[in-house]
This record gives sequence, C-alpha cells and structure tokens, in this order.
Amino acid sequence: MKTVAILTSGGDAPGMNAAIRAVTRKAIYEGYQVIGIERGFMGIINQEFIPLSRRDVGNIITSGGTMLKTARFPDFKDEEVQKKAYNILQDNDIDHLIVIGGDGSMLGAKCLSKLGMSTITIPCTIDNDMAGTEYTIGFDTAVNNVVTAVAKIRDTSSAHERVAVVEVMGRHAGHVALQSGLACGAEVVLVPEHPTPLQDVCKRLLETHKNGKKYSCIVVAEGAYRGHEVSEYIQQYTYLEPTVTVLGYYQRGGAPTATDAVWAAKMSEAAIDYLLAGTDNCVIGAIKGQIQGIAYEEVNQYIHTIDESSYQLVEILSS
Ligand code: ADP
Ligand code: F6P
Repeated sequence: MKTVAILTSGGDAPGMNAAIRAVTRKAIYEGYQVIGIERGFMGIINQEFIPLSRRDVGNIITSGGTMLKTARFPDFKDEEVQKKAYNILQDNDIDHLIVIGGDGSMLGAKCLSKLGMSTITIPCTIDNDMAGTEYTIGFDTAVNNVVTAVAKIRDTSSAHERVAVVEVMGRHAGHVALQSGLACGAEVVLVPEHPTPLQDVCKRLLETHKNGKKYSCIVVAEGAYRGHEVSEYIQQYTYLEPTVTVLGYYQRGGAPTATDAVWAAKMSEAAIDYLLAGTDNCVIGAIKGQIQGIAYEEVNQYIHTIDESSYQLVEILSS
C-alpha cells in the first residue's frame, strides 16, 4: 500500500481544510494510506506526522484555517535542510507528498522533487498570484470577506461623508484589491501593477466630489501603498476627511465560499488522479477554467496578471 502525505504551508487560506479532507478521502478511496504532516515543511524536519483516516477529516470542510497547522520555514531554502527532509520522507516510507499552499510552498515542493521526491502542489493562497494556475483556493473567500467589510464601512462613511481608505492583502499582487474593489463599487482601486501617484488619487476624488459624490471608498492593495500613507496624503492635500481600515487577517478567516470548497474538492481529486496515472511533480492548475497538471518547469508559461478591463471598469462605473 503506497503512502500519500499532506502538508499545508505558507499563509493559511480558507479552503485548506476542504482540500485536506478531499485529498485524504479520495486517496483512501483509491487505496492509499494517508499521513498528515503538521506545520508545513518544518513538520517534516520535526517529524510531526499523524495518520489520517476518513473520520479524522470530518467536520472540517466549512472551517477556515488548517487542521494540520501551517508555518513559514525560511530555512527550507537551504539545500541541506531540503536533503534532510527528503531523507526523513524516505525513511518514513512516504511515496508521495501533496503540498497545499502558495508560490513559496510550490518552490519547496519543486526542490523536493529535484531530490527525487514525488510531489504535487495544490494552489492555495488568498493572493491568487501563483504561476501555473489562474485560480488559487482561498481567493474567492478573501474577496467576499473584503466586500462584506467594505459594505459596513460604507455605511459609516456615508453617514459622516468621509473617504474610506481600506487596505487589503495580496502580497505583491493586486488581485484581491481589484476583484473586491470592482465588486463593492470602490471609487478608486490602487494596485502595484498600476503605480498611481497619490496626487492623481486626490485629483480623482476632488473631481467626483465636485460632481456630487458625498463619500468615497478607496481599496488599496498592500503591495501598492499602506492605507495610512494614502490617508495622510489625502488629509494633507485636500479638504476631504479620510479614515483608514486595515483588513489584515480578517480576510483569511471564516468558512470557504462554495466556490473555494468546490475548487478544493476538484483540485484534490485531480491531484490523486494524476498520481494514479503516474504523473507528479506538477501544480494542479486552473487554465481557462479547466483543471490540469502543469509541470513545475512549465509554470512560468502560465503567468496571469490583473485583468486590465476590470481595472478600467472600476473608474467608469464609479464616476
Ligand atoms: P506561500 O506558500 O503562501 O507563498 P511562503 O512564501 O512563506 O508562503 O512559502 C511557504 C514556505 O515554503 C516557506 O516558509 C518555506 O518553507 C518554503 N519556501 C518558500 N520559498 C522557497 C524556496 N525558494 N525554496 C525552498 N522552499 C521555499
Ligand atoms: O500570502 C498570503 C498573505 O496573506 C499575504 O496576502 C500577506 O501579505 C501575507 O500572507 C501575510 O503574511 P503573515 O501571515 O505571515 O503575516
């Protein structure tokens, strides 16, 4: 009986538990033994292994976070640490490793595959910034978390006729900011992919307020500006009254949306099917809506940046 190990790594994301559940149950259904590794790649080194049965992954599909815990383990960039991890996996008769995480985690999986370990990565991060896939599990839930928060912030902004500056996550990408900004009708969306001087932001705000707007919302990606930086600039150079909300870790909590839970189930199913077909060392990508394995060496052929038409539409619809 072959053994599949699962770990979650990097920033946690809603849907990680749904993926752990699906990988475990699909693998058992196909005759594999399943081992959970706690706390990401660090858990390999510390041999934090727990057997997983069908029942062990019950009642987690609607929970945010990860039952296997996660960790950031920068030491794993060291080849000696990678080799130690590889040897531990071999010594524990682990045949395949499923890594559930973001772009950094995929790099860790790729390093292990270069040492001879069979790995598959399931893309899971709220940032939606991974090569090899147009979608990462957790993104839809994070966007909906932002939209829910902005709706509440809008109520108080309209009451006080203020400008709400809302800082969102996304690391170096603007996907969370753009998707949520369009969804919640933000007047301005600031993303690192479109460097925008704050002077231009103020000009835009003054123009729309001259045209009758009484309050505005700016969604700013953390990779573009800090929310406080935008607010202080508006305060200094306009008559407008800004407020700042940094949504932070709120975006990564809560039950995954149906969209993320279904992606988790289908990408997990695909991961085990690829193992059954003898294919590994790939990320389970969504390419034009279709799930397919993209070899680690080919992921850079599938880079997606923000949707330009969505970026232009924000301004058109908020004028
Ligand atoms: P995410 O997977 O969400 O992008 P990180 O960037 O923190 O989060 O990566 C998660 C983990 O993957 C890191 O803590 C480290 O253990 C491992 N990792 C990241 N980058 C590399 C790399 N270049 N080589 C090997 N391992 C890496
Ligand atoms: O990668 C996911 C993410 O939430 C980023 O959007 C954010 O910048 C980062 O993790 C925060 O890292 P940490 O959880 O280690 O503070």
